[in-house]
Amino acid sequence: MKIAFFSYKSYDKEWFNKTNVDFGFEFKYFRVALDEETVAYAKDSDAVCVFVNDKLNREIIEKLHSYGIKLIVLRCAGFNNVDLEAAQEFGISVRRVPAYSPEAVAEHAVALIMTLNRKIHRAYGRVRDGNFSLSRLTGFNVNGKTVGVVGTGKIGMMFANIMKGFGCNILLYDKYPNKAYETEGVRYVELTELLKSSDIVSLHCPLTPETSHLMNQYTFSLLKDGAMLVNTSRGGLINTRAAIDALKSHKLGYLAMDVYEMEEGLFFNNLSDTIINDDLISRLLAFPNVLITSHQAFFTVEALEQIAAVTLGNIKDFVEGKNSDNEVKL
Ligand code: NAI
Repeated sequence: MKIAFFSYKSYDKEWFNKTNVDFGFEFKYFRVALDEETVAYAKDSDAVCVFVNDKLNREIIEKLHSYGIKLIVLRCAGFNNVDLEAAQEFGISVRRVPAYSPEAVAEHAVALIMTLNRKIHRAYGRVRDGNFSLSRLTGFNVNGKTVGVVGTGKIGMMFANIMKGFGCNILLYDKYPNKAYETEGVRYVELTELLKSSDIVSLHCPLTPETSHLMNQYTFSLLKDGAMLVNTSRGGLINTRAAIDALKSHKLGYLAMDVYEMEEGLFFNNLSDTIINDDLISRLLAFPNVLITSHQAFFTVEALEQIAAVTLGNIKDFVEGKNSDNEVKL
């Protein structure tokens, strides 16, 4: 089984090669992302292994089909970048890693909240520069605050439980609520109430046509003045221009993001010697109350181990003709 591996980074290669000793597949690693120009690299392979910013639209899937490819393995949970209808039409199975480490993402969301709130990133730089002043480093107690969790799946509930441990009041919203999650201080409400009542709102639902720009000019207007918004899910959940307006008008007090609407081509790359042509991210980076990490919420040893093991297991199941719960269907 030959697998064309797109968008690889050194850590991918390290973990996949280590885990592949038990499987014996043949990997061809490509640094470039899968798109209309690079799809030809997949010729002579039986499968492609892709990540969050690889493109799998109809045109590309049709090309993959013409090369005889029958399997797309995603080494991530989200599959919003795959045209599932096209994959089904061309008889290509799509398999993913549904949960590699929900703890990793939930813990990163908490790290973002605490860093932004207590201004650790600014204090770190100051102290190293011999500046021991506390001026403008004031934070707020998280204990006793109301935290709204949008999307109560694996990551959302892991996050909710950590925040409950901080002594927060938790409001949940999900399209498919699970009433069993309601305990003392944790209850489901409508999205509007969650946005109006929360001091911190954290997004944990997938990006779908329905959730695209869930945070927009209108929903920002519902927030409490000075609220904090955290997005570790997918960039497209937030209308970036509306977020900038909400920050400029002081409606939004803090914004922490691990994902960005236009992250493709930016995130995961070292662009420190180049001119960044994206004016929206440049504007965001200029706010003192915005904290951005580059899609690293998943990035723990435990998650990398799990991603490699489950992805290779998905390929093995496919080769052996086994159905799998990790198969993504329409
Ligand atoms: P999950 O599938 O366990 O949970 C998603 C939840 O969202 C479900 O409870 C579902 O009912 C809910 N949902 C679906 N549509 C909704 C809607 N319209 N409104 C409100 N809720 C809705 O997924 P999991 O594992 O918790 O992951 C959540 C998201 O986190 C993924 O979709 C992915 O985009 C993102 N993610 C980000 C990573 C990072 O490194 N930043 C890593 C892994 C996942």
